[in-house]
Order: sequence, then C-alpha cells, then structure tokens
Amino acid sequence: MSSAETAALTAPHSSSKEMLTGFWYPALRSHQVRGRQLRAALLLEIPVVLGRDTRGLPFALRDSCPHRGMPLSCGLFDGETLECSYHGWRFDASSGQCREIPSLLPDSKLKVDRIFATHFPCEEHDGYFWVYLPSGTSREESPPLAPRLPVFSTKYRLVHLDCELPCDVDNGIIGLLDPAHGPYVHQSWWWRTKRSIRVKEKTYEPIPNGFRMRGHAPSSNSAPYKLLRVYNQPITTTIDFVLPNMRLEQVRCGPHWFSNRVTITPLTPDRCRLDFCAAWNLFPWMPLVTPLFRFFARRFLRQDQHVSVQQAEGLKHNPRMMLIDDADRPARWYLQLKEACLDSRKTGLPMRHPLQEPVTLRWRT
Ligand code: FES
Ligand SMILES: [Fe+2]
Repeated sequence: MSSAETAALTAPHSSSKEMLTGFWYPALRSHQVRGRQLRAALLLEIPVVLGRDTRGLPFALRDSCPHRGMPLSCGLFDGETLECSYHGWRFDASSGQCREIPSLLPDSKLKVDRIFATHFPCEEHDGYFWVYLPSGTSREESPPLAPRLPVFSTKYRLVHLDCELPCDVDNGIIGLLDPAHGPYVHQSWWWRTKRSIRVKEKTYEPIPNGFRMRGHAPSSNSAPYKLLRVYNQPITTTIDFVLPNMRLEQVRCGPHWFSNRVTITPLTPDRCRLDFCAAWNLFPWMPLVTPLFRFFARRFLRQDQHVSVQQAEGLKHNPRMMLIDDADRPARWYLQLKEACLDSRKTGLPMRHPLQEPVTLRWRT
C-alpha cells in the first residue's frame, strides 16, 4: 500500500477524546435504586445522583451541592427533597430548587429559591435510568424522546448485561461496529470459527443521526441463527447505529422476533460501560431459555471485554491507527457522524451526513 493510501485510511483523531453531550445515556439499572435510596453514577465525567420520588418518578441531579460541593448522594432523601449531609441545605428532587438553608435567620435577604442544584431530565425505560445531558449550547432545545428498545409483542423475555471497557468511547464504539473480529475474538463452535469465514455483502443506508444495515438474511455461518429455521419462515436482520453510542439489532421471523441494543457509555475519557439489553418472544416452550441465553451472551461480552483490556495495553503508547475499506467503513462513518454533530453544534448549521445514498460494502468474516 502506498503511503498516500495509508494516510487516506488513517482515522481522524480530532474528536477521539470528546464525549457527546446533547443525548440520553443509561446511567443505572432500575433495580439498583430501591425505595428512598440515593445512588451515585458517573456519565461523561459528570457525577450524578439518582433516585425515585414518592410517586415513583425517577430524578437525576448533579451529585454536587451548590454550596460547597458535597456529593448530594451522601445526604438523606425523604421522597421529595434531598438534604445535604454537610450543612443541611435541602433541594427539591424534581427541579433541583433549594427549599431550605437551616443556618439562615428568619430576616435573611438571601433568595433561597433562586439557588438550584443542577437538574437533568431523567426517565426510566427498559430497566434503566436514562439521563439527558444537555449540550450546553445557547440553542438548547427540549430533549428528544428517551430511547426505547423496539419490541413487537406484548409478551416477551428481557435480559440485561453489562461490562466495563478500559478504553475511550470511540474505541468502544469502533469495536461494536467492527465485523472482522468475530472469527478471532468470538471463536467458538456455537458462533464462529476461522474455517467459517466467508465473503459478506451488506447494504447500508443513511438514517437520522446514523446508518442502517438494510434488512438481510442473517449469516448462515452463525449457529444461533440456524435455530430460527425451526419456524420455517423467512428471517431478516436489520442493524442500526445511531449517535451517540447505540447499536440496535432486530431479527424478525414471521410473528417471532428478537431485538437487542448495545450502548457504549463514556464514564471518563478512558473508561466506558457497555450495556446490553435483549428482548424476544422466541421459543417460549423451551425450558431454561433465559439462563441459557444469558450464559452465552455473557461469554460473548467477556470476549469483547478481554480483547479491550489487551488492546488498552497497546493504546497506552498512542499508536497510529488505520481504518481500512470495507470492513472498517462503518467505523469511519461513526467518526464522521460525530465530527458532523460537533460541527453542527458549533456552527448552528444542519448536520452533514457522511452517507448521502445507500452503499454496499463487502468483506470476509
Ligand atoms: S455543602 Fe451542601 S449544604 Fe454545605
Ligand atoms: Fe465483539
């Protein structure tokens, strides 16, 4: 390969440590917050305190008292207000507004109700507390709808898994979009072996804030998809990537379906959490289907985590990296989408989508 060609394929790095605000992120699993407990979480280096009020509504505040920076998660919560553990200031959980400063005398001129702890939009869906982190631009609009896992029937099973990855959000997402690591990292009799490698051809199209791998018959070299043949119906898989961090996959087989979502949430510039959530109405007659699925999915995630831990050793030395055609093209689209999103925030102009029309990619995996 000529040096000019190599340069053309080198990934842009200008945004690699940037973390995108102006989006919803999963902060915690629902079961981690019980009763009047307060829980601390970290999102994009922002400390957040989460809980549920007496009506069961979730809330999220910056985990920092506006008085002297004490984490509010160290304080008490009565179902309506959080009391800071340092000097007892009280804040409304649903707005962050200060309700009381115990040290003030009754004739104090201080306008207590003008003091706010930073408050974030918070919703609970699919077993997660979702928090919207505003982008901080002056053009701030109201938050879009919080993400929801697509489901296609009223009855289904739901599984959640997660793991931490010791890398920046871009490397985490590139790993998610990368089709070529399958036969190496996920080698096993039930998924892929090196011998099962073959040529794949996939067509992608632009969607708002992302791209879609068009509906196609799933890989014939993956054992789990072979199970679906029992239904004797056409099987189609669609895979979307949407900013800031989300891969959504849907497998449809007549009335039967499987839907999963992976998000890579940056905690710090060098650490992310992968959240995996899957729902399906397949094989309802099969015993132990959920524990079996969980067992295999957990192994799969551990393989990704293991390779990320190993890659982190290499990344410590700031290597130059390449993204090649066609297998790394989705990764490049992600980086371009992120740049375009940041640019549009800076300029106020509409975001320029890196994909202007459908594109067919070919690779071996
Ligand atoms: S630091 Fe919170 S009340 Fe003083
Ligand atoms: Fe993987």
